[in-house]
Amino acid sequence: MSEDVWKAVDEYFTGHLLGPDPVLDAALEANAIGKLPAIDVSAAQGKLLQILARSIGARRILEVGTLGGYSTIWLARALPADGLLVTCEVDPHHAEVARENLKRAGLDAVVDVKVGPALETLPGLDGPFDLSFIDADKVSNTAYFEHALGLSRPGSLIVIDNVVRGGRVLDPADDHPSVVGTRRLVEAVAREPRVEATAIQTVGAKGYDGFLLARVK
Ligand code: SAH
Ligand code: DHB
Ligand code: MG
Repeated sequence: MSEDVWKAVDEYFTGHLLGPDPVLDAALEANAIGKLPAIDVSAAQGKLLQILARSIGARRILEVGTLGGYSTIWLARALPADGLLVTCEVDPHHAEVARENLKRAGLDAVVDVKVGPALETLPGLDGPFDLSFIDADKVSNTAYFEHALGLSRPGSLIVIDNVVRGGRVLDPADDHPSVVGTRRLVEAVAREPRVEATAIQTVGAKGYDGFLLARVK
């Protein structure tokens, strides 16, 4: 099975189950014009995040790693009109593109884009958040997880992107800081008694990767 097949199958399901979405298309187009890296979640993954948020009736969502706000739009659409999504982004240009995309999506009133290193933003936030989506630099994933946990309540979900990276997580010869960061994260989640967790490998438009999902007990 090749990446071409994964992508085609993603397109098949997305075509049937998600439908056209000019606002999300426009966000990806603005990202490309702004030369942001095309590392947003896939449409199918965005919909999964949205369904998770809706399933738990999320009213407050935390995101670490905004990029152009593509995953932010999926998540923020799950919120009620008086909901709140706080998203942390270190790159001012990414944040600016995201703010424009969120405005076009009609979500600027429910989303607060915080510009700066997430490790400086997170200590100043007030919880609890019902769902946290962690998708920034992988080196700090353990710290982001610990902050998200501290900002959670029993029943909150913490979702962390890119924990597989084509299987690199398992390659002992791979000592890239982001891969080491992911292994540290998995070990930290494993010894954290306040959560129950799993990880799901995925293939699709984003290649071979996966999510870690933790539920706060
Ligand atoms: N969640 C987005 C993709 C995020 S890509 C989506 O699916 O649409 C990762 C983002 O994390 C990038 O925009 C990068 O600038 C940001 N980032 C990297 N290091 C960061 C840090 N220390 N604090 C906050 N954001 C960071
Ligand atoms: C990269 C980062 C991501 O968050 C992602 O989903 C895919 C790739 C990266 O830094 O290469
Ligand atoms: Mg990611």
